[in-house]
Amino acid sequence: MEAPVRTRALLLAKTDHSPPDDSTPEQPCLIFRPDSHTISPREILQPSSSTHTAPSTMSLQIPMRGKSGGAPVTKAVILVGGPSRGTRFRPLSLDLPKPLFEVAGHPIIEHCFAAIARVQEIREVFIVGYYDESVFRDFIKDCSRTHPHISVKYLREYQALGTAGGLYHFRDAILKGRPDRFFVLNADVCCSFPLEQMLRLFEEKDAEAIILGTRVPNDSATNFGCIVSDAHSKRVLHYVEKPESHISNLINCGVYLFATEAIFPSIKSAIKRRADRPRLVSYPSSDALDSQYTPAGDDDDDGTKNEVIRLEQDILSDLADSRQFFVLETKDFWRQIKTAGSAVPANALYLTKAFQQQSEELAKPSANILPPVYIHPSAQIDPTAKLGPNVSIGPRAVIGAGVRIKESIVLEDAEIRHDACVLYSIIGWNSRIGAWARVEGTPTPIREHSTSVVKNGVKVQSITILGKECAVADEVRVQNCVCLPYKELKRDVANEVIM
Ligand code: GDD
Repeated sequence: MEAPVRTRALLLAKTDHSPPDDSTPEQPCLIFRPDSHTISPREILQPSSSTHTAPSTMSLQIPMRGKSGGAPVTKAVILVGGPSRGTRFRPLSLDLPKPLFEVAGHPIIEHCFAAIARVQEIREVFIVGYYDESVFRDFIKDCSRTHPHISVKYLREYQALGTAGGLYHFRDAILKGRPDRFFVLNADVCCSFPLEQMLRLFEEKDAEAIILGTRVPNDSATNFGCIVSDAHSKRVLHYVEKPESHISNLINCGVYLFATEAIFPSIKSAIKRRADRPRLVSYPSSDALDSQYTPAGDDDDDGTKNEVIRLEQDILSDLADSRQFFVLETKDFWRQIKTAGSAVPANALYLTKAFQQQSEELAKPSANILPPVYIHPSAQIDPTAKLGPNVSIGPRAVIGAGVRIKESIVLEDAEIRHDACVLYSIIGWNSRIGAWARVEGTPTPIREHSTSVVKNGVKVQSITILGKECAVADEVRVQNCVCLPYKELKRDVANEVIM
């Protein structure tokens, strides 16, 4: 990854939001919301009840803006979810949690962290999810080594709490040090994360929340949260999560900046609404919808059901009513990383960005290296192999003579034997591709947000994916297939899931 560029400090004058009286953050101050209910921050900030992490139990105040003294304090949260029962990132997630899967030579989550680290004022980052604590230990150690001035902590939810439920559960940790605002990034998106621009808009508009938006083709918009905004003021007028019918092609990128004084009261109100109407259940994530997830507590009375609160369903449309919710529309690249196949376009986008920034990490272009290409220093590439564009080769991979690889990811310890061809594919850890074999997917337009294509009337993955330790025999052709780990392919196969 390119060395983090330290972006310029925010030079914008800090708006004074302090109330006209002499109330201090230590005194209970009231937050007036336009929907007419009034909540005291003290009422909101009861100590959180984590069993896995021990957030401070002292009663913390939500800082009133401009009251924290000095430069505004900004933190960041990366939402990583957990070992979901969803199947979309399989077979790769069978062997590695999705946030740690490498695209363009770095774990998906590292691209988010690098963007956060470029915002000079951020000193504290939380990774929030329901994976085991051990999952992110090495990643966090690496972050602390490369960015010693940033504290990175993993906060584990005891169960999936939803995208807002986790924030609320760990509010003591987030609010410690009285941050004025904090970013929230979905770990499973790939974009240039224009966080500085979001901060500028936040200051300029005296916002309670900023959401990053992007335009997608009309026919894919309903797969995302949709934003109706005022083009001139950038104000969010209306927000609907995955609407049934078209309302806008400006969609939620899964990157937010929230004023602490606004977001926690909103979540608190949503929790209260849920308590009043217990039958309104939020699913903790869209993966859960795929996997027939039954919310915890649905059939028993342990009270956990109501803790699942989603930003998208339960909070954002309310924030739109508050009138201090704005959208920053990015014209730069953006993709979701949901299916395993979507790692291939994400790889291409991050490599292209690294190439534009003349990253030293990329392989030098030559007759046989068509940029952008990332090759791990420990990989062995025969000089007659032709790679690129948009290829990442992982540690200790061995690429033989006359091999052709394009638009693909080759993972650690894989071997591609001489004269094989790999196109639009992911070759799993330790897999073996025989001589003269051909492993290929189908190209899809770069603007396309789906990773499936219709072949012979059947919807199949456009990217061929071989899980861990698969073997493709010499001269065998594998086309548009998803192959589970440890399989041996001895004959030609197309448009199949090989179990
Ligand atoms: N900590 C935690 N706890 N994280 C979660 C949970 C949870 O219970 N559930 C989901 N996440 C994380 C996921 O890992 C992912 O990074 C992010 O939150 C959003 O995931 P989903 O809930 O599956 O939503 P989605 O991806 O279908 O849609 C969201 O993202 C789109 C952009 O990629 C929504 O925000 C859409 O509006 C948006 O367009």
